Amino acid sequence: MASGARSKYPVPLAPACGDRPAGPTSENLGLPVHQDVETILFDEAQIRLGIDRVASEVTAAYRGRPFTVVSVLKGSCVFASDLIRRIPIPLELAFVSASSYGDGTQSGQLHLNFFPAESEIAGRNLLLVDDILDTGRTLSRLVGEMKRRGAAEVRTCVFLDKPSRRAVPFQAEFRAFEVADLFVVGYGLDFAGHYRNLPYVGALKRECYEKRA
Ligand code: XMP
Repeated sequence: MASGARSKYPVPLAPACGDRPAGPTSENLGLPVHQDVETILFDEAQIRLGIDRVASEVTAAYRGRPFTVVSVLKGSCVFASDLIRRIPIPLELAFVSASSYGDGTQSGQLHLNFFPAESEIAGRNLLLVDDILDTGRTLSRLVGEMKRRGAAEVRTCVFLDKPSRRAVPFQAEFRAFEVADLFVVGYGLDFAGHYRNLPYVGALKRECYEKRA
């Protein structure tokens, strides 16, 4: 799925992250983040098409049934906001915050930071929306928590699915793209809190994350 559209994005005359002093790339102020991307996996046009398809599937599945999109922060904020604007039927929006990655690329302890109010969960049809389904731990735990708190139904929708990394059995009902086992950033996905603002999904240059390991 690599795109040849790389030149569309400005690559400045500045040292790449591997040549700069140690420290998170984006902390070297003023250097655009594009240069830290090795390959673009899904460009903006591909993302638009993928989201259109998922939005149609979600619309068909919930037509005539009230439902709430629950965006899993922070990573899904970009995907969720694009997705809901392509779903033309009534929906409500809520947020849940879970973090599992800390500053590295390896899955760590999962922290549930905050949940929607009880009234937004109990008796509701929930569609949990996340940026990426990797080991499956985050979404399987969140689905369990939502059911425990009285949700009528819980389904899941992910922007990216990395099935090769699954550690617990889990399948999302809706997904935009399958992705290989690469650490990906952009379109809401981060490394050490950075790169969420890239408008495409890319694989980070190895030197950008190995410096921090
Ligand atoms: P699990 O392993 O619980 O992961 O399915 C879900 C959460 O882990 C983060 N994650 C990633 N973030 N690039 C990222 O920027 C990746 O390749 C990646 N893999 C997992 C993400 O926050 C997701 O919600």
